[in-house]
Amino acid sequence: MTPAAQSRLAAAICGLAPVVPVLVIDDIAHAKPLALALVAGGLPALEVTLRTPAALDAIRAMAEVPGGHVGAGTLLTPADVKAAKAAGATFGVSPGATERLLDACAEYELPLLPGAVTASEVMALLERGYTVQKFFPAEQSGGAAFLKSIGGPIPQVRFCPTGGISLKNAVDYLGLKNILCVGGSWVAPKEAMASGDWAAITALAAQAAGLRGPSRAPEVQSGLRP
Ligand code: 3PG
Repeated sequence: MTPAAQSRLAAAICGLAPVVPVLVIDDIAHAKPLALALVAGGLPALEVTLRTPAALDAIRAMAEVPGGHVGAGTLLTPADVKAAKAAGATFGVSPGATERLLDACAEYELPLLPGAVTASEVMALLERGYTVQKFFPAEQSGGAAFLKSIGGPIPQVRFCPTGGISLKNAVDYLGLKNILCVGGSWVAPKEAMASGDWAAITALAAQAAGLRGPSRAPEVQSGLRP
């Protein structure tokens, strides 16, 4: 799958809601109820980070939830890409980008949201064909002000910033023309997962889904097919 095709699909995924939950799942038993709670609250695109032993099984379980679009985050190696695809991930997210990782996403046909954090990194990914990128770690790397500035010389790249984003500052990003959505872990607090308080997570998701973002209609209409 070409980078351009990957970015078209990434844009469609990012257009589903203003927020993509970034999920760290320790207990496989949490996977399905968590996905159900987030989708019920209006957040259908879910990023499961490959940071725990349960992550791949969690993707498998969550991929069965109707209305959900489950992706794998923290992709670092070609083996991660292969495993994520085999588990049923429909998109991938990486904190940065390497040639080997990008080659693997083309080979295994996994639409990737590759990470970039400097103008040169953004340009290198654009040169390869990625017009939708993750900006990580967002708050620590200049935040909304950086993204607004980079939209001047490089308006053709649009971003999903993650890292340090919460209900408080999400709107700073969502108001920018070059932002498709934001990612964050705040919608799935560890304590709520541990206590099985799925209603609380649905409420947080609904609050996040109600954040005002840029118009997403054309992206969603363009569909999620390659
Ligand atoms: C991450 O990869 O950890 C994400 O960027 C989430 O960051 P957050 O926990 O600050 O939302």
